[in-house]
Amino acid sequence: MEQIDLRSDTVTQPTKAMLEAMIKAPVGDDVLGDDPSVIRLQKKVAERFGKEAGLFVPSGTMSNQVAIKTHTQPGQEVLCDIGAHIYNFEGGAPAVLSGVQIRPLFSTNGILDPEKIKENLRFDDNVHHAPTALIEVENTHNRGGGTIIPLENIQKIRTIADQYRLSMHLDGARIWNAHVATEIPLNEYARYFESVSVCFSKGLGAPVGSMLLGSISFIEKAKRWRKVFGGGMRQAGYLAAAAEYAFEHHIERLKEDHEHAKYFASELNKLSELSIHMESVQTNIVMIDMDHLSASDLQKRLLAEGLVINPVSPTRLRAVFHLHINDEKTERAISIFQKVLSSIN
Ligand SMILES: Cc1ncc(COP(=O)(O)O)c(C=O)c1O
Repeated sequence: MEQIDLRSDTVTQPTKAMLEAMIKAPVGDDVLGDDPSVIRLQKKVAERFGKEAGLFVPSGTMSNQVAIKTHTQPGQEVLCDIGAHIYNFEGGAPAVLSGVQIRPLFSTNGILDPEKIKENLRFDDNVHHAPTALIEVENTHNRGGGTIIPLENIQKIRTIADQYRLSMHLDGARIWNAHVATEIPLNEYARYFESVSVCFSKGLGAPVGSMLLGSISFIEKAKRWRKVFGGGMRQAGYLAAAAEYAFEHHIERLKEDHEHAKYFASELNKLSELSIHMESVQTNIVMIDMDHLSASDLQKRLLAEGLVINPVSPTRLRAVFHLHINDEKTERAISIFQKVLSSIN
């Protein structure tokens, strides 16, 4: 029987309709600036987010890192929460590529305490400090379990950023999930940030591609860094066409992923060996905790039954719902957990 893959929403294969859109795409040389499909996608997405311009890049990591490079000077500091993707999962890139240090703050599922931000700001009137240049927020928050950062929290952080003339960057790899869950428009989420990174290759199901959004002058500078980082792509229109298809057709359907995640979480929570913080199951990610079992041992037993899922700590598994997980596969994933756990007892 076909395996069920809950490792990530990045594992999806392009659909037939998406592949057809790719084949038909008119293309040019995007480094020379004349790929019509890239130009169209950048304009369309920037408009939807209320930003002046967009820059199509190969990955979410590149998008975040080009943003950090464009916002900062070496020796400065970027403030974010301790679970942030830019801090944990981008290979130390802020230090390598921008010569900045990250100042991680403890948070609740990625929700930073504005007062803590204020206390931790550093200024260049003290030679001991690396002055703060940028505040970064991740929404939804991957490590937090797909949690949504409330708009009021973002507004409070923006007030502090304005007070101290700091820029803000949004890692919105899964901002689409926050948008469909809350019905807050994408441009409302984006307006508090000088730059926004979005991914087409997570829940939206495109094979490749992210976009950095901001003002015209910011994106002009970012374009230079994209080239320096090796992200200038030539006939990128084929990829832009997949991203455009995903942008047009796969945003609303994210609600299905959220329903599957909630149902899966509530059923697993009935099993005495597992515990799930149901209030943290807000979008397409479920964090599954266990007191007495080893996550990697459970992972192996689940795999033997056809369920692929990854641990994120010795006592925690992460399940991510996506385009290829329908009602039937959700039910089957629950049954596999039930079967495996009853065989351990
Ligand atoms: C929140 C977040 N930001 C950025 C990225 C990086 O994206 P990519 O894998 O395309 O580099 C990811 C990847 O999963 C992510 O979850």
